Amino acid sequence: MENNLLEKIVEPLLDWYHKNSRCLPWRENREAYRVWVSEIMLQQTRVEAVIPYYERFMKRFPTIASLAACEDEELFKLWEGLGYYSRARNLKKAAQVICAQHQGNFPEEFEEILALPGIGAYTAGAISSIAFEKAKAAVDGNVLRVITRLTRDSHDISDAKFRGQVTEELEKIYPSEGRGDFTQSLMELGAVVCVPNGEPRCGECPLSSLCRAFGSGTQLQYPVKKKKTARKVEQRTVLILQLQDKTALRKRDDKGILSGMWELPNIDGILDEQQVRQWLAEKALAVKEVKTPVNGKKQLKHVFTHIEWHMTYWIIICENEGSDDEIIWVTAEQLENEIALPTAFKKVYRSACIT
Ligand code: ADE
Repeated sequence: MENNLLEKIVEPLLDWYHKNSRCLPWRENREAYRVWVSEIMLQQTRVEAVIPYYERFMKRFPTIASLAACEDEELFKLWEGLGYYSRARNLKKAAQVICAQHQGNFPEEFEEILALPGIGAYTAGAISSIAFEKAKAAVDGNVLRVITRLTRDSHDISDAKFRGQVTEELEKIYPSEGRGDFTQSLMELGAVVCVPNGEPRCGECPLSSLCRAFGSGTQLQYPVKKKKTARKVEQRTVLILQLQDKTALRKRDDKGILSGMWELPNIDGILDEQQVRQWLAEKALAVKEVKTPVNGKKQLKHVFTHIEWHMTYWIIICENEGSDDEIIWVTAEQLENEIALPTAFKKVYRSACIT
């Protein structure tokens, strides 16, 4: 990667950022805790979707100590709908480490930041530069797209070694002032101008005269990304067990996808009515009625990063609580206000027209 081409982007990019950056809640005040929470939320979620979650989260947990001391249930409820709950779990864990090892003050050294749970090179770079003005780069998919287009670089951007090289090259060109802005200007350009999916807005780009892809009309050929292996498809049968105004929930295992979260009872595979009735009988659950979903649509799909669930569901009106002590019965009001139910199950619950 050529250093003298990269060097030329700093000034136009910073100028452009100062004139065009979006006003976002985590940009007004660049305290490390605020930057950290924003970067974690933004990892898998779009800016517009993050903003209301971010505002609520910072209001409820204004300090690292308040986050460290929170109840998991409340934390997950605030996170409900954002997905990837391990991010929330790690935020709390890291807050506890900061309280125990750094007297509640967010550490300033890159290596100390990187050592915190849930923080990788990208997030550590973002916090170091944005909150502490260090010459540390934060290289995510947006930044890789900008840089590979600029330099017409055909390396596979999913290769960690290449990501490391880009990080290293970028750190050489960090300005002596406005380092946090420089990090954010790269992210911003990738988010609003040098966009994925569809034509980038090269007419608005402050780097177009430097950009090798633009110069050769090859923008859409970059970035180069190795084909992903297909997601694994899992069939699941989900049961909406109703007892008067309550619905059955149980906790997931501590390992694997959605570990430790609440779920609607569900079984591997596609069960027919007889198999469902047998499952219920094994738990001494007496059935009053097996209802067809109101809209007649019994199949729903939920996509995770590596797995896809194809869910068939049944609505069962029960006559008793059964004998399975892993099952709890909750009202619609509790589900709305107190319990975090992962989106896959929320979809089923909503589709069943219970709310
Ligand atoms: N995506 C990741 N980090 C971001 C930030 N700080 N601002 C806007 N979008 C982002």
